[in-house]
Amino acid sequence: MFLPQCLFILKIIGSIEAIAYFRCMKEIVVSGIRSTGNLHLGNYFGAMKNFIRMQDEFNCFFFIADYHSLTTHPSPADFHLNVKSVLVEYLACGLDPEKCTLYIQSDLPEIAELYLLLNMNAYVGELERCTSFKEKIRKQPDNINAGLLTYPTLMAADILIHRAVKVPVGKDQEQHLEMARTFGNRFNRMYETELFPEPYAFNFGTQLVKIPGLDGSGKMGKSEGEGNAIFLADAPELIRKKVMRAVSDSGPAVMNQEKPEVIKNLFSLMEAVSSAETLAFFEEQYNVMKIRYGDMKKQLAEDMIAFTDPFRKRILELSKDEKTVQQVARRGAEKARESASKTIREARNAIGIRQI
Ligand code: TYM
Repeated sequence: MFLPQCLFILKIIGSIEAIAYFRCMKEIVVSGIRSTGNLHLGNYFGAMKNFIRMQDEFNCFFFIADYHSLTTHPSPADFHLNVKSVLVEYLACGLDPEKCTLYIQSDLPEIAELYLLLNMNAYVGELERCTSFKEKIRKQPDNINAGLLTYPTLMAADILIHRAVKVPVGKDQEQHLEMARTFGNRFNRMYETELFPEPYAFNFGTQLVKIPGLDGSGKMGKSEGEGNAIFLADAPELIRKKVMRAVSDSGPAVMNQEKPEVIKNLFSLMEAVSSAETLAFFEEQYNVMKIRYGDMKKQLAEDMIAFTDPFRKRILELSKDEKTVQQVARRGAEKARESASKTIREARNAIGIRQI
């Protein structure tokens, strides 16, 4: 063969290897959403919006956190339906199983094993100090189970099982990420290994997001009561009803008055779904004391409907396509287990769990 031809072939082989190499080098991303109900705008802007963009740039693992939903004791029928509906919503939002690994947490027994191993080195004191645990104690005093206490170790297992470095989440998960770093670092130190890298909460914007609820509470959430959250699957009429009931006040008493919390919340919601012009118009109306919250809420409801409508339609379509959903879950579980089993093998080895 002539030298130029040989050089040409070598160049091609080189670039194929380079592509494969860079694919391996892509940073690992993990995140999940609990299957405790439908996805709401908080889930979308805090997590899903980043998932969609990240699947093009990183090696992403996105899962449905169904073990985490067990802390509230759902019935077996609800449990199963919720898992399915969240998977449908993942797909409806634009997650593509060709670009990222989509799976159900309970399909990976490796996660349960890593959770057990991490629990051995997680101290009750530090778990009890976790803000989300304290909140749960307040909300469900009759059901303070060990799953609630060890929620951060299960979450750490979810992240560390794929050795992720970036975790797209909303502001409320920041402390859990800090604990995941603590547990990973502690494992590395105890067993003199570098198995686990440090995972950090991630958002493409500068800060982690917190979408407020409609009831004047700080956060939109599934368990914050009827009317607090706008779900992607909500019908237009329901959205109008919920938004018109949103908490506001009697209006500003002086020009350019600092906004009280409940009014800030309305503006934050508008910032998320409305155009910059609409937001600027109502800001101006507020500053010159001409604002009519009824008009603002009407506009907010219409903008929320325009935003959620394409998702709602895709959710309805995909809900009928059981086969696709099943295939996605099966394939995702296989891909995710490949990565998880490597980590668990190394973790066992580091601890000294070996065949006799
Ligand atoms: P969950 O199911 O409560 O919420 C899923 C994601 O949505 C974000 N989120 C919000 N972001 C902004 N404003 C809001 N009002 C709002 N409400 C919810 C959450 O921050 C989260 O990113 N523990 C997690 C699930 C989980 C997980 C993990 C996440 C389990 N293992 C491993 C990342 C990595 C949770 O309860 O999310």
